[in-house]
Amino acid sequence: MTQHTLEFRSDNCGSAAPEIVDALVRANQGTAIGYGADDLTLKLNETLSTIFETSVRVFPIPTGTGANALALASTGTPFGAVFCSQEAHINTSECNAVGFFGSGLKVTPLGGIHGKVCPESLETHLNNAGFGQAHKSQPVAVNLVQATDLGAVYTVEEISRISALARTRKLTVHMDGARFANALAYLGCRPAEMTWKVGVDILSLGVTKNGGLLSDAIVVFNPEIAENIGFHLRRGGMIWSKMRFASAQILAYVENDLWLKLARQSNAAAQQLAAGIQNTPGARLIAPVEANELFVEMSANALDHLARDGVLYYRRGPQLARFVCRWDTTENEINQLLTLIVRHAHT
Ligand SMILES: Cc1ncc(COP(=O)(O)O)c(C=O)c1O
Repeated sequence: MTQHTLEFRSDNCGSAAPEIVDALVRANQGTAIGYGADDLTLKLNETLSTIFETSVRVFPIPTGTGANALALASTGTPFGAVFCSQEAHINTSECNAVGFFGSGLKVTPLGGIHGKVCPESLETHLNNAGFGQAHKSQPVAVNLVQATDLGAVYTVEEISRISALARTRKLTVHMDGARFANALAYLGCRPAEMTWKVGVDILSLGVTKNGGLLSDAIVVFNPEIAENIGFHLRRGGMIWSKMRFASAQILAYVENDLWLKLARQSNAAAQQLAAGIQNTPGARLIAPVEANELFVEMSANALDHLARDGVLYYRRGPQLARFVCRWDTTENEINQLLTLIVRHAHT
């Protein structure tokens, strides 16, 4: 007999939104030129330019890791340094793809809280970076993860402050938006206000985790970076040949505000879970819940019990669990998880 399980491991474990699957089927007609010169990819560029209220270049790409690494590789020299938070995905979970695709680019983590880059720490590092000294990696970019790897969201002002600092030293500002729509839904601002209007040059736009199927995208606001990116992508083996199918997915994702609708669903599920956990003695949220991920401290015993009762989640330390809500997480799943957390938290 299979044990009943509750899925809270990752938003990667969710299904794809039917609208996106339908769009793939619709794209499966006739012929189209490959490698991005097709009509759907042209439309994707136009549509995202409208959504971002400026002319953007869009490069669909298979993975978020590829998007981050190639976006950053396109920003500078192989002897450059990229600043990020300690918890940033490029620092913790991408097998140094930035260094690999960036031919030696150095990922340099900074202090901060809730997965954010702390502006003071960035300033100190920039002051001590040794610009122009051959002994030192030369700062080229700063990476901001929106929403962060601890489930928090940078405010527009926070992004603006970091970008302004980056600008003083001609650094490129890269946003890892694996959960961009979750952050956008949380802030309730326009995509432009969270990106190029506050100095973001290039964005890894997550699609897959929020109801997509098999494609994310790099969105470039800065035309100088766009010049080079095609070469990096091709050399990295990251250009879809049948590009129309990747573009069809991303178009369906943003059309009719589907991305926001899906993100609001996973964000709301996370809020419901957070509210229950806040009232549970023995369980503590270690970061504000502003998107769809929760990081919860509980005794090792309580966490073991949850796993034994069929809760699927990732352990991030002996007493730390990550729970992720998907666009298709149900109220029933949240209630069942909360019942188990309340039962075990004090043990
Ligand atoms: C914040 C963040 N960035 C990037 C990625 C990388 O995405 P992928 O697994 O598609 O390479 C992830 C995936 O978990 C992520 O959480």
